[in-house]
Order: sequence, then C-alpha cells, then structure tokens
Amino acid sequence: MTTNTISVDLGDRGYDIIVGTNLLAKAGSHMAPLVKRQPAIIVTDETVAALHLATLRDSLSAVGMAAEIVVLKPGESTKEFSGLEFLSSAILDLAPERASTLIALGGGVVGDITGFAASVILRGIDFIQIPTTLLSQVDSSVGGKTGINTRHGKNLIGSFYQPRLVLADTGVLDTLPRRELLAGYAEVVKYGLLGYPDFFTWLEANGRAVLDGDADARRHAVITSCDAKAKIVAGDERELGQRALLNLGHTFAHTLEAETGFGSRLLHGEAVSIGMILAFDLSTSLGLCPAEDTARVKRHFAAVGLPMGLDAVAGQDWSSKTLINHMRLDKKVRDGRITFILARGIGDAFIANDVSLKDVEALLDNAIAA
Ligand code: GLY
Repeated sequence: MTTNTISVDLGDRGYDIIVGTNLLAKAGSHMAPLVKRQPAIIVTDETVAALHLATLRDSLSAVGMAAEIVVLKPGESTKEFSGLEFLSSAILDLAPERASTLIALGGGVVGDITGFAASVILRGIDFIQIPTTLLSQVDSSVGGKTGINTRHGKNLIGSFYQPRLVLADTGVLDTLPRRELLAGYAEVVKYGLLGYPDFFTWLEANGRAVLDGDADARRHAVITSCDAKAKIVAGDERELGQRALLNLGHTFAHTLEAETGFGSRLLHGEAVSIGMILAFDLSTSLGLCPAEDTARVKRHFAAVGLPMGLDAVAGQDWSSKTLINHMRLDKKVRDGRITFILARGIGDAFIANDVSLKDVEALLDNAIAA
C-alpha cells in the first residue's frame, strides 16, 4: 500500500490529508490517536453504507474502537435544514461529549453537513473526513468549509471548521458511477486552470486514465489536487484573498444549481464544469484571455466528456435575468458587486470585482441561445 501525506499548515487547526489505496481498511489505526472518546460516531448515507461501512467498522474493531452509526438519505436535498435537524438530533440522542469525534464517511453532502454539525454540536466537537467521491477527495473534504443549502442558495448557512484528519482512499473510487467521477474530475481540472498549468498539461495526457480507473493516475491526480488546495487554504483559511481562486466557475455554477433545484438534474461538479467554460468565455470576450487558451480548455473538456453548455440540462428554460438574480445572493457578493474568477490564460486565474453585469448578461444570453 502506497500512501502520501500532505499537511495542511494551520497551526493548532492543522491536519494531515492521507492519500492511498486500501486506506479504508486501515482507517482505524490512522484515526485511533485522534479519537479521544469512544464511541466515535460515523455519519454516512445509505448508498455509501452499503458499499464501505463494513470495511470501516472492521478497521475500527481491529484497533478496539467502538462506533455508533447515523445513516442519512443520499443526495443534495439532505444538505438542508431538515437534514441538519435529523442529523443533530440523531447525534444528540447518542449523548456525545465535548471530546467526541464524528467520522464523515461519504461524498460532499455527508462531509459538509457532518462538518457543520460538528462545528455547532456542544459548540464544537472533532470530526474526521473519509471522502468517498473524487469531488470530495480533491475539494470539499479539505479546507474546512462546512454548511447546508437553503432556498436562497448554496452553502449560505455554514462555518469554517477544520477536520482533524482527511483519509482519501483512491481505491473506493472504483465503485463510483461514471457520472459522479466525471463531476469530480471538473474540480481536478480546476487546479490546473487556476494556477497549475503543468498539471493541466498532465491532465491533457492522462485525464482519460484518471477517469478509466488507472490507479497510479488517480492517485497522482488526487495528491496534486490536495497539495494545491492545502497550500491555498494554509495561506488564506477564511477566504479573504487567494482562496477565492478555488471558486473558479463557481459563481456561475451556484446560480445554475439554484435554478435547477440543487438536485440530480445538475450535479455540483457538472455545474462547475459549465461554470468554468463560462468563466473562460467571459475572460476571452473581455479581451483578458487568449482565445486559443479557451479553445484548448474546451478541447480537453470535450475529450474527457465534461459538460460544457447549458444544454447539458435537458428541458431547462434558462433566463439570464433570473440567473443573475441568483448570483446577487451568492456569498461572494461584496458591496453589492458580484465577484467572478476570471483567467488571463490556462493556470493564471484572478479575482475580478469589476465585471459589468451587462457583459455577464450578454454572455449568458449567448450561452442560452447556443
Ligand atoms: N471549494 C472551495 C473552497 O474550499 O474554498
């Protein structure tokens, strides 16, 4: 078993991300030094429980660690007030103490809601992330963004609350449906596009292998992504500056998700994929990014099968005005101005607070008409 450890350097809130294959079977021994009180409380969903819970429980038993289990309904609709009420009540029924630890076993929904519950239960208890999707391994499990969605938008209720450990077993990705894998791949490509052009070049050559199950390629993609994210988060934990680059494509993505109801019609990673294409198109239309770079991004997205246009959501009646109204509610609005992450080229993203909404509306109108 090859494992790599990446440190997120945040002082007393710092932690390790361990990446490797067969990690789930050894999770107990990695977690034992951090779990101060037993039983630990595993939070998962029905889909992940059927696939991976037994392996995790066996690994805890192997080191003599007791655990209680809370199982959530799968899907983004769990990440709402009703899901939080269910989860918090289920955890409080288990009489946790301040020294208790939650273990989030699952994708972004399980990780985000469990992290948020950990941040507010008893005013804060420890949690560990065991992400089981590509998207959660390379993005949502790292960096301490936790939260839930409301009818006003995505993750508008939440906290910055760091996990104590992230265990990313790239072997579990073998059970992931292709659509989920591809949605997660959008967040992998994001690192290349925002600041790591060599990684983008590597993905052009190896992206298919990552998606098709090549274990070494997958591990390299997850390690490189986590390493990039760990550095950015360590430099700007609360997104006062450079961390905002991780939102490349997200201003568009969140509005598309809000409009499609945060459901399975458009997965978060799919929305990010379309959002990144819109961000590059906007950058080129504003004369900021060479058209050749945007064309190269599109060639790679097309080659691996990432969604690129609004027609990826069948039957959706888009309106640029409605989409812009959703954007106004985004967390990234400052003094009424919507923040966009634009690009001067592949690997050269920057924060733009002065984009005219007329230009955005024209871009969206074109995308809707395409
Ligand atoms: N997913 C973006 C961030 O963690 O900042």
